[in-house]
Amino acid sequence: MAILPIITAPDLRLKKKAASVDTVDDGVRVLMHNMLETMYDAPGVGLAGPQVGVLRRVIVVDVARAGEDPAPMMMANPEIIASSNELSIFEEGCLSVPEYFAEVKRPERVTIRYLDYENEIREQKMDGFLATCVQHEIDHLDGVLFVDHISNLKRSMILRKLSKLKKAEAKV
Ligand code: NI
Repeated sequence: MAILPIITAPDLRLKKKAASVDTVDDGVRVLMHNMLETMYDAPGVGLAGPQVGVLRRVIVVDVARAGEDPAPMMMANPEIIASSNELSIFEEGCLSVPEYFAEVKRPERVTIRYLDYENEIREQKMDGFLATCVQHEIDHLDGVLFVDHISNLKRSMILRKLSKLKKAEAKV
């Protein structure tokens, strides 16, 4: 197991479309475990391959609250096959957009099809915060960040500040 470095915006690697996984083999399973460990260490509730520089369609999620048993989910090639018209709003953050949060509107309920840890095709219905979190992670696989769902003005302000922060860190 290893903790992987997390890429932060603005970075072109976060804007790319990730490639599908053919088979969930041992290599993919190692990636899943490393991503989970990286996510727990951060700490965060979700992580997608591109955030650790791996352009593969792999995500990990755990929305269990403090005090609850961990509920890790590992998915390859997750896709939304159905979504509700009803929307919900959650305040979202992202390990690749540190320190910033914004309310994002997304479908309240989705059905996700994915390849699980055993390379089996699964379909799962989810709602609430879990549904939001999985949609956020699937966005990453298509080069989309949560700030792409908010106003241009707010997005450019956040990205400008993050860019300045990176330059300042690079000088140290
Ligand atoms: Ni994110």
